[in-house]
Amino acid sequence: KVVAVIMVGGPTKGTRFRPLSFNTPKPLFPLAGQPMVHHPISACKRIPNLAQIFLIGFYEEREFALYVSSISNELKVPVRYLKEDKPHGSAGGLYYFRDLILEDNPSHIFLLNCDVCCNFPLPDMLEAHKGYGGMGTMLVIKVSAESAYQFGELVADPITKELLHYTEKPETFVSDLINCGVYIFTPEIFTAIQDVSTHREDRANLRRVSSFEALQSATSRTLPTDFVRLDQDILSPLAGKKQLYTYETMDFWEQIKTPGMSLRCSALYLAQFRLTSPHLLAGGDGNKSATIIGDVYVHPSAKVHPTAKIGPNVSISANVRVGAGVRLISCIILDDVEIKENAVVMHSIVGWKSSIGKWSRVQADGDYNAKLGITILGEAVTVEDEVVVINSIVLPNKTLNVSVQEEIIL
Ligand code: GDD
Repeated sequence: KVVAVIMVGGPTKGTRFRPLSFNTPKPLFPLAGQPMVHHPISACKRIPNLAQIFLIGFYEEREFALYVSSISNELKVPVRYLKEDKPHGSAGGLYYFRDLILEDNPSHIFLLNCDVCCNFPLPDMLEAHKGYGGMGTMLVIKVSAESAYQFGELVADPITKELLHYTEKPETFVSDLINCGVYIFTPEIFTAIQDVSTHREDRANLRRVSSFEALQSATSRTLPTDFVRLDQDILSPLAGKKQLYTYETMDFWEQIKTPGMSLRCSALYLAQFRLTSPHLLAGGDGNKSATIIGDVYVHPSAKVHPTAKIGPNVSISANVRVGAGVRLISCIILDDVEIKENAVVMHSIVGWKSSIGKWSRVQADGDYNAKLGITILGEAVTVEDEVVVINSIVLPNKTLNVSVQEEIIL
């Protein structure tokens, strides 16, 4: 048997995701019309002998209750949300629930970050891991040398694929091969995490008798013994010890830390639906429906006027109303939004219950990495008729009656 664990973090983590994380936990924010965490979960479905899927985080249970019960029914695999009483770090959180995770006596445990976007080649990783032996195998990818510093950088043996060296977000360049945040481990990982805690406790006891030691190692002093980071505390020290191996993906991979990247990842997942679930994509069926261009998701409850033109990369959530002559390009329209006649929305995310007036334009230049590269309207924002909003972020409950450009409206 195999189990999968998805780390979802908690409310203090997703600050770069504001204002979209004000009323929805980031893991449930829709990409290609499905909650972010839905994409790794449905990838787990392809793992042979999968017994259970655990989501571990420190959001309130009630925030995940509905999603977890509906996805369990849909996949016919139990999906459980486990809430930590406080953050324990990416490895500490796993360790905290070791008894539940080991309940079914799994031979292997998949561990996935929820904020990465890729095609999760999990069965291939399992096969590769069995060939390597060792305690764990991590998914890695080559990125540009300029962007590598944002991730864990690593060196792997070109022949054996062993992880030889690992540094988390280094200040000087180490390697353009980076950690994708997707792993497979044997249950020995729990012993490795236990060892980190025990070692910290021993040092803490030592320090009580040695004031010299107390001056050293500020980091380990401030970390509680049950807070263990997978990258710094496990991967770095175990590199080069024939315990960890790498599996390189040649397919797409992105990290989803900002709203801009969620728009980019929504496009990647829509493109993936073309291959995996084409029934989820809107197809211009007959002359009664709107013109659809490229990959578009429309929730069945949304009402789109037949003269609207939509796509590419558009995702329209529940109960949205799109009026006559509306043009939508590369955007995420969240639940209960109304877009009135002849409005244009481009490279933008429109928050829940917002309203966009007639002949208005909500747009941006679409630079996913720039701070104001996409326009974001928070929840319940009203853009009045004929107003133009360009490269801006508008916080919830605002009404815009004049045009704005490159502004953050608080
Ligand atoms: N449950 C729980 N509890 N989850 C946590 C905690 C915690 O205390 N801390 C972090 N997480 C979750 C986050 O939600 C995320 O899914 C994952 O664990 C990793 O988060 P971080 O530890 O904040 O690291 P990161 O996202 O900045 O970078 C990691 O992922 C990159 C790939 O996206 C590192 O492993 C990098 O090396 C890697 O490149």
